[in-house]
Amino acid sequence: MTWGWCRADGSSKTNTSAQPVKNQQAAGKMIQARGTRLFVKNWKVDELVPVVNKGLKGKREFDRGKKLFTETSCSLCHHFGRDGGGVGPDLTGVSGTFSVHDLLENIIEPSKEISSLYVTTVVWKKDGDVVTGWVPEETETTLSVMEDMLDVGKLVVVKRKDIESMKPSTVSLMPDGLLNTLKEDEILDLVAFLLSGGDSTLKMFQ
Ligand code: HEC
Repeated sequence: MTWGWCRADGSSKTNTSAQPVKNQQAAGKMIQARGTRLFVKNWKVDELVPVVNKGLKGKREFDRGKKLFTETSCSLCHHFGRDGGGVGPDLTGVSGTFSVHDLLENIIEPSKEISSLYVTTVVWKKDGDVVTGWVPEETETTLSVMEDMLDVGKLVVVKRKDIESMKPSTVSLMPDGLLNTLKEDEILDLVAFLLSGGDSTLKMFQ
């Protein structure tokens, strides 16, 4: 998937009114959810790891992290405690599974390591059509393919006898660049929220 938004300096060619670029079909809902957040920086894992490790020692804002979980669209695909939804992995327990480095890497470079349950499939059909997406259901005669995680009700059913070939895709269903509209402080609060398991009384929030 490709994403577009205007830069804070208004340098986008397609749009001068500092609104997100609207014409990407699959990205439509995501961009709406992202509202009018502006591009801040193309954040890299290695530069954020030391910043986050230091920043989690205290003074984080739980409520702001929680709000950003929705504002940056995470909640469209991920459950966290009783919030959020969708079909991506539940993130409530990430503090037990991921180091700060691995957590940031999973957010910034989602395609680097794709959780095996969510590997997408590229299906080439005999009529030349190509269908790419997550396959939540298979039968002996059909595959159901979810092309857009934000439109979970829409499954494309492909008959096995119409399939020429298929292979796993190397691209995650999770878009990259989701942190790029956040300032450093906001990333810290979002990560603190993710690592909190939902407990706002932890030391990092004091
Ligand atoms: C369009 C749906 C979608 C959105 C939006 C999304 N994710 Fe994901 N995310 C996924 C899917 C699907 C996976 C599993 C595939 C993979 O590992 O790439 C995943 C994997 C992850 C993982 C690794 C979890 C694991 O158990 O392997 C983390 C951490 C994560 N996302 C965090 C976030 C955060 C934080 C946001 C918001 C900034 C976000 N995601 C937004 C769909 C999404």
